[in-house]
Amino acid sequence: MLQSLKNLAKHRMRQHPHLRYWVKAAQKQWEGRKRVDNYRRNSLICLEPDNDLNRSFIKTEIPLASNIEITNACNLNCLMCNTKLQERPYGLMEPKVFERIILELKATGVTSAGLHTVGETFIYKELEVLLEIAQHHNFRVWISTNAQFPERIEEVYTKFQKTLNDIRISVDGATAKTFEYIRVGGSFDKVIESFEVIHQLNEGKQNFKVGVTLDSILNSDTIYELPLYNEQFGKYMGFEDMNFWVVTGLSPDNSYFKSTFPYPNLIRSEVPCHFPFASQYFTYEGKATLCCRDYNEELVVGDIMTSSLKEIWSGEEAEKVRDQHRKPESLTINACQNCYGPHKFVENVINNFIHYLHFKRPEISTEEFGDTLTVLLEGMDQKMKNGDTPALQNFVKSTFDLIDRGQRLSPEQTHAKEPISTS
Ligand SMILES: C[S@@+](CC[C@H](N)C(=O)[O-])C[C@H]1O[C@@H](n2cnc3c(N)ncnc32)[C@H](O)[C@@H]1O
Ligand code: SF4
Ligand code: SF4
Repeated sequence: MLQSLKNLAKHRMRQHPHLRYWVKAAQKQWEGRKRVDNYRRNSLICLEPDNDLNRSFIKTEIPLASNIEITNACNLNCLMCNTKLQERPYGLMEPKVFERIILELKATGVTSAGLHTVGETFIYKELEVLLEIAQHHNFRVWISTNAQFPERIEEVYTKFQKTLNDIRISVDGATAKTFEYIRVGGSFDKVIESFEVIHQLNEGKQNFKVGVTLDSILNSDTIYELPLYNEQFGKYMGFEDMNFWVVTGLSPDNSYFKSTFPYPNLIRSEVPCHFPFASQYFTYEGKATLCCRDYNEELVVGDIMTSSLKEIWSGEEAEKVRDQHRKPESLTINACQNCYGPHKFVENVINNFIHYLHFKRPEISTEEFGDTLTVLLEGMDQKMKNGDTPALQNFVKSTFDLIDRGQRLSPEQTHAKEPISTS
C-alpha cells in the first residue's frame, strides 16, 4: 500500500517537475530542523553531572580506538601542540612493525585506526607501502593532516579507496594571519589547495567520496573567526562537518592553553583520564602506550613486537597505569600530573552550541558570534565556581532560549551574572 503511494507520488512528480524542487526543499528543511534541535538536545544532555563531573572508569574488554604513530616527526610546531618539545629522536615506523600492529589489532577485534599520535602522516614518504599492507589485510585507516601536502592527497586517496576514505584537516583560524600564527611554519594557501584537491576528487562521484571533516581548536585566538570558517571552507563541506574543540593543555608546554582559555573554573586535571581505559596507541617503534600523545613515552606498557595486544591490554604494566588513574593521589606519571583541560561537557556544549547558533542565526555577524560564545563561556565559568550544576544547566538552557528569541548577547551585559529566568 505504502509502496503504491510512493510510486504514485513519483509518477506525479515526473509529470510536474516543479513539484520535485519543492518536495526536495521541504525534505531538506525538515532534516535540517531535526539536526538543529539535536544540537540543542546534545548540549543539554552533556550537562548531566554523571556524564562528566563524577568520572569513574572501567577498562573496556578490548580497545575501542587506536592510533598508530607512523612517524613522530612534523613539519610544523603548532602553539598548542609543541611537537618539537618531545625528547624522543625522530623516526619512521618500519613496515613489519606496522603489519604486526594491524594483525594484532584485527586479532583483538579492532578494524580501523588513525595514522598519527604526535607527528604528521604525510611526512612518511613511503606511505603507499603501509597503505598496501593495510589494504591487503582489509584494515581501514584514516588520516588527520595539517594539510601542507596537497600533492600527496590525490595519489593515496585514488589508489587506496578500499582502505582509506576519511580525511580530517586540522585548521586553526579561518584567516591566513591567525592560521599561520597558531600553526607555526604552516601555509594557509596550502590548506586551501588541499581542500581543492579533495573537492576535485569528489566532484561528480556517486559511489565513492572522500569523507572530509575540518577540526579546529577553539580559544581566544579563533573565537572571533567562527562564521569565517563557513565563508572560507563552506565550498568544501557543510558546517555540520566542521568541529570546534576547546583547546586543551595536553602538551609539554601548556602555557598557550592557559593564556588562551581564561576560564579557570571550566578547567580540571585530566586525571582520571579515559584514554588508558579505552584506547591503545602505538609509537613508531611499536611501543604500546595508553595516551594519544605520549610525547616522551611515559605511558608505554608493552612492545607489540614481543607481546600480543591482548597480553599488553590486560597486562600488569597497563593495570599499573590505570591504577594510578583510579587513585590519583598515587600518580607518578609526569605527563598526567601536568595534564589539564576543559571539563568534557564544556567541549560538547560549545561545539553543539556553535552549530546551533550557525543554523539558527545564519545572518549573525562575526563579532556577535564571538560575543555570544564569550558570554556562554563566562557564564558557565561563573556557575562552575560554586559547583552549582542546576544553575549551570539553567544558564546554558537560557542561553539557547535567548538565541531562539534573537537576542543580542555581549560580554559586558549581565546575562551571565544574574539568576536566569526562562519564562
Ligand atoms: C597532534 S595532531 C597530529 C595529526 C596532524 N599533524 C594534524 O595536525 O592533524 C592531531 C590533532 O590534535 C590537535 N591538537 C594538538 N594539540 C592540541 C591541543 N593542545 N588542544 C586541542 N587539540 C590539539 C590538532 O589540532 C590535530 O587536530
Ligand atoms: S598539531 Fe599536528 S601539525 Fe601541529 S605540531 Fe602537532 S603534530 Fe604537527
Ligand atoms: S597525559 Fe595522561 S591524563 Fe593527559 S591525556 Fe594523556 S593519559 Fe590522559
